[in-house]
Amino acid sequence: MNIRLNLSGVKPFIDENSVKALTDSAVEANRSLYEKTGKGNGFLGWLTLPSAVSELEISEIEQISKDLREKSDAVIVIGIGGSYLGAKAVIESLKPSFTDSRDSEDPEIIFAGHHLDEDYLYELLSYIKDKRISCIVISKSGTTTEPAVAFRLVKQFIEKKYGKAEAKERIVAITDEKRGALRKMAEQEGYKTFVIPDDVGGRFSVFTPVGLLPVSVAGLDVRTLLKGASDMEKSSNLDAPVEKNICATYAVIRNILYQNGKKIEILANYNPKLHYLTEWWKQLFGESEGKEYKGIFPAGVDFTSDLHSMGQYIQEGERILFETVIGVERQYGELTVPEDDENLDQLDFLAGKRIGEVNRMAELGTMLAHVDGGVPNIRIEIPELNEYYMGQLIYFFEKSCGISGYLLGINPFDQPGVEAYKKNMFALLGKPGFEIEGEKLKTRIASF
Ligand code: PA5
Repeated sequence: MNIRLNLSGVKPFIDENSVKALTDSAVEANRSLYEKTGKGNGFLGWLTLPSAVSELEISEIEQISKDLREKSDAVIVIGIGGSYLGAKAVIESLKPSFTDSRDSEDPEIIFAGHHLDEDYLYELLSYIKDKRISCIVISKSGTTTEPAVAFRLVKQFIEKKYGKAEAKERIVAITDEKRGALRKMAEQEGYKTFVIPDDVGGRFSVFTPVGLLPVSVAGLDVRTLLKGASDMEKSSNLDAPVEKNICATYAVIRNILYQNGKKIEILANYNPKLHYLTEWWKQLFGESEGKEYKGIFPAGVDFTSDLHSMGQYIQEGERILFETVIGVERQYGELTVPEDDENLDQLDFLAGKRIGEVNRMAELGTMLAHVDGGVPNIRIEIPELNEYYMGQLIYFFEKSCGISGYLLGINPFDQPGVEAYKKNMFALLGKPGFEIEGEKLKTRIASF
C-alpha cells in the first residue's frame, strides 16, 4: 500500500483546466530530472538513491551501528541543516515519546552542532560526563561553523575521557569523499568514515549514511526505510502513469494555489512525533524554492496544540494560506476516554471512544472549518507511522520538491542565499580575510 493524496479540500479552490495544463509541465519537469536537462543537474544523485544503495553499504552501516550501540549509552550526532534534520525527523517520528534509558537497549541519540547556543553545549558536556559516549560528526563541506565548533568540544571530551587511540574507535565522520577540513582531519586521526556523494545536496541526503547511520544507531530498520523510499521512487519514475504519480500531483496543486495568491503552505500534523518531519520539510522546500524572490513560504503547525495558538489566524487572518495535513490512520497504542461519575467536565459523551477517534474528529472538523474559511486543504494519508511509510513520505517530498522547483522556474538544488549570514558572521568575528568588511559592519551595528 502507498501513502495517498486526498484532494477533496482543494477542489473548491482550483479549476480542472489549470490542473491539466500544469500536469503536462510536471511530466516535463519529471523528465528533466531523469534526463538531467534542468537547473542544478549536478545534484540529482538523490533521485535514484533509495534503489541504488548497495547491500555492501547497508551492511557496513549496520556493522558500524552495532559497534556504536554496544559501546555507548549516548551517541552525539553532530550536524546542521541537511546534515541533521532528516535523521532527527525519522528518529523522532518512529521512536517512543518516552524512554527510560535504564530499560532501553538503544543508546540515547543526542543532536548537537545545529546551533551555537553556549548553554546547550555546556549542559551537554555536563550531562554526558559519566556516560559511555560515541560521536557521529556529519558535514559535507567539512567547514560549517556550528558543527565544527560542537565537534571541537566533543572531540576534546572524548579524547580526554578515553585517550586518542580509543577516541578513534568512538568517532565516525560522514563527509565529502576527498575535499574539506573534516575529510582531512578524519584521515589524519584515523576515524572510520562514510562518504556523502558529490551529487547529493544536504537536504536530499536522508538515504545516504547522513540519515541512515544515526537512524540505525537509534535502533530503527534502515532496510525497510529504503524499501518504502524505493517503492515511492518506482511509482513516480518515468514509467509510472502521471495519474498515479502523487509527487507530480502534489507539485502541481501547490503551484496552482501559489499562482492563485496562496503564498504560504502550512504543513500540519495531529501527531506530535511528526514535529521534526515538519522541520525537515521546511528546510527541504524553503531552501530549495525560496529563490529569485519567488517561492511558497513553508510553515508548520502541530495540531491540536497549535489550534490554540495559530488556529485563529488560519481561520480568519489574511487569505494567503493553504494547508497540507499529514493524517496518520492507525495508532498502535489503544486508549479510550474513561467514564467519570461526576462528569463535571461534561465529557461523558466521549467515554469509551478511542483517543485516536477524538483526534480524527478534531482533524475533520478543523479541515471543514478551514476550507469554509478559505484555506485549501491537501491531505497526505499515511496508514501508520513506521519505517516503510516514513521512507515513502520522505522520498515523496523530495521528488515533489524537485518537480515543484522546476515548475516554479528556479534551481531547487542550490542555496546561494545561505552564504550571506555566514560572511557577516565571519567578518564580525574577525576571520582572516574579512577585516575590511568587519569594520564596515561594526560601524553599521553601532548605529543600530
Ligand atoms: O541542504 C543543505 O545543503 C544545507 O542545509 C547543508 O546540509 C547545511 O548547511 C550543512 O552543511 P554541511 O553538511 O556542509 O556542514
